[in-house]
Parts: sequence; structure tokens; C-alpha cells
Amino acid sequence: MNIYNTIKDLHQAVGRAKKAGKRIGLVPTMGFLHKGHLSLVSKAVQENDFVVVSIFVNPTQFGPEEDYDSYPRDLESDDAKLRALDVDCIFSPDTTEMYPEGYNSYVIVNGISEKLCGSSRPGHFKGVTTVVTKLFNIIQPNTAYFGEKDYQQLMVIRRMVKDLNIPIEVRGISIVREEDGLALSSRNKYLNTEERKQATILNRSLLKAKELILNRQLKDVNKIKKEIVDMIERQPLARIDYIAIVDPETLEDIQSIEDRVLVALAVYIGVTRLIDNMVINI
Ligand code: PAJ
Repeated sequence: MNIYNTIKDLHQAVGRAKKAGKRIGLVPTMGFLHKGHLSLVSKAVQENDFVVVSIFVNPTQFGPEEDYDSYPRDLESDDAKLRALDVDCIFSPDTTEMYPEGYNSYVIVNGISEKLCGSSRPGHFKGVTTVVTKLFNIIQPNTAYFGEKDYQQLMVIRRMVKDLNIPIEVRGISIVREEDGLALSSRNKYLNTEERKQATILNRSLLKAKELILNRQLKDVNKIKKEIVDMIERQPLARIDYIAIVDPETLEDIQSIEDRVLVALAVYIGVTRLIDNMVINI
């Protein structure tokens, strides 16, 4: 497995693989890899002949008050994990390789990017769609892998690929969770022992919503939201950013629950903002 820091070197390696007729898979990440990331990588290895994992903490998707500087990084350990999975190469550019002096172009997906996380993190998805487009252009994979953990991100990327006729298949992969239900996230590292305990409220409240929806006890979205709000607010370290019960394709609000819904939430546990979601089929 090789690590490439420059677009030129990566280009040559991918070019050789393509010439040999290999199917190329891409897994974009910001590193500090856990089993959630690795499930995407395993899928990519299964389905392709040459797999590139990008590791790049992308500054353009972080707001000025966010954790870009403190975002956890551990390239050595990431390298060992990816080697064990038979990945072909890591692309780990520095910031100036991706955004050289004078850089001034961005990709914006309107509408779907403005809801949920988009309204609490203005500009976030503009950074994501820009860097993902750059990675798509640099690598030109057959297939790219994204986690349903970041459900809105997956839908924004699907929209972008469709709208801009990008010839890449986007695969969504299920959320990997800890035994107690907490969705794996690089940001879980920020939690102290008490916060870690209370962080299970995200998944527990989603399960509660699922139960209420499937039992058809409550059809009214606002009543379900109220139940979840009450449950989360009983955790002293939790502060709700948003709770959304929306159409899973468009992320538009719905009034009453009919067949398929997405319940998505963002909750601060202490100062750490965590997200989780569940698609519920009735
Ligand atoms: P990052 O947070 O490192 O996540 C990389 C990929 O791993 C994303 O597609 C994310 O949805 C997936 N992932 C994270 N936790 C997961 C879990 N518990 N189960 C399943 N998949 C999980 O998302 C980003 O990086 C960036 O925004 C990126 C797309 C790389 C653009 O910079």
C-alpha cells in the first residue's frame, strides 16, 4: 500500500490501475478511522480491484468556531488499519495541495444543503461538495462510498452527482454502532466518561421514535418530537441542536407520517455536537 501526498503521484498510480482495466473504488474520509469508516472500506475492497482511501481534514467544511484545529488526526494508526484491509493506496494531501494560493471555486447544492445540519452549520455542505467534487475529479472512481451516519451528506452528494451528471456510482453504507447503540464517530473521542454515558440518548431517542411510529400510537409529527425532546432534556449534559422528522429523499418537513420517514437529530453532549438518524419504514 502506498501513501500519496500529491495529486500528480496519485494520478499516475490510478492511471496505471485504470490502464490495467481495474475497477476503482474511492472512500473519502477525514481520518482517525474507526469501524464505521472501515465498513465502507471493506465494502469498497470487496467490490473493486483498486481502492483509494482519502484522508484529508477539509478546512472548508468547518465553521470558524468549529473544531478544525483540534479534529483528531492519527495517520500512522490509519495506515495500519488500511493496510490490514488490503487497501491499494491512501491519498493524504496537505491543505495547500488541495487549496493552493488563489483557490476560488466552490460547488453548491441548493435546497437540500440548507436544511438540518445545513442550517446549524452554514457553509458546511458547500465545503463538503467542493472537496468531494475535487476528489471525484482527481481520482475518477467507478464507485464512491459514503456512510448513512451522515445521512444528509449522502443525500446532498447523490443530488450533486445527479444534477451535474457525474459518472460515478454513489453507495450508501449502514451506520456502525457501539454495543450500547452510540453511532461510531471520530468526535466520540471528545467525550468524558459521564458524557459518553449520556451520549446514548441519541440512539435511545431514535428507538423511542421508531416505537411510537411503528405502533401507530402517534401520527402527529409534533407530538413525536415532543416525546423525544422531553426524553433528551432529562439528560443534564444534553442540549438539542435539532430534531427532524422529514421525507427521507427530500428532507422536506412532513406533517403526518405515512410510509417512510427519516428521524434525524443533532445534540450537543457537553460541548461536543453529535448526530444520528434512522430511516423508519412503516
Ligand atoms: P468522516 O467524518 O471522516 O467520514 C467519512 C465517511 O465515513 C463518511 O461517509 C461517513 O458517513 C462515514 N462514517 C462515519 N461514521 C460512520 C459510522 N458510524 N457508520 C458508517 N459510516 C460512518 O464525512 C466526512 O468524513 C467528510 O465530510 C468527507 C465526506 C470525507 C468530506 O470531507
